[in-house]
Amino acid sequence: MKNVPRNLTFAANWKMHHGISEARAFAEKFLALTAPSDGRKLWFFPPAVSIATFAAAVKQRPDIAVGAQNVHWEPKGAYTGGISIPMVVEAGARLTLVGHSERRHLFGETDEQVARKTRAALASGITPLVCVGETLAERDGGRTEQVIVRQLSALLQVLDVQQWRDVVLAYEPVWAIGTGKNATPDDAAQIHELIRMELGRNGVSFYVPILYGGSVNAGNVASLLTRPQLDGVLVGGASLDPAGWADVISRGSEAKVRPSGGFDLVES
Ligand code: 13P
Repeated sequence: MKNVPRNLTFAANWKMHHGISEARAFAEKFLALTAPSDGRKLWFFPPAVSIATFAAAVKQRPDIAVGAQNVHWEPKGAYTGGISIPMVVEAGARLTLVGHSERRHLFGETDEQVARKTRAALASGITPLVCVGETLAERDGGRTEQVIVRQLSALLQVLDVQQWRDVVLAYEPVWAIGTGKNATPDDAAQIHELIRMELGRNGVSFYVPILYGGSVNAGNVASLLTRPQLDGVLVGGASLDPAGWADVISRGSEAKVRPSGGFDLVES
């Protein structure tokens, strides 16, 4: 039997770290530490000011794509502090994060705004990586499913089935972001299944990649990626150091998918 490489995406969300000179230095080190690998995509979301520099530095690498962390849905206008999709595209972005929990919870971004941004990204031909996830209070209150379904439903209302072919999702439980607490592989796999079922119930029957994010690091990436429900990871803190991030990518790439389909039948 031929060994088909698994399609995996390793996405680095630098948040408010790495300005222009740090981004350039990162690229130099990182490029020397990694090589393209079949079926593996490396995505970077630098702060907006560093997109052009970083995109230029990695342009020889077909496996690397660069994205914005946030965009406005309008192409231009009187939106002080806003950055439009045509602007980030001109800087070299081919992707954008949409609805990261820090945008939702620290900046009050609504489900409706997330849906607008997603639609605008698709209309401009860039890939939206749309984040969903519950807070600790929502999880403790048994509302995880309800919250995820609500966040997805805002998207399902504005996207037609065909448009879903170009969407990538990230499940990022808010309680696991930057806290050192990550969801167990089973927790993550279970919510990925829920998302897939919800998409299926709404007629999205083809494969939409779903990444997992929240305190992913070199120590846990392999066990998370043994779950076939996970198509990759979206990483903050552990993506900031070039050698550390190359290590996460290398360990994650070696993770073997569980033949059981993801869930342990017997605890040993
Ligand atoms: P951490 O990996 O630092 O927990 O951040 C996760 C995240 O928010 C990525 O988008």
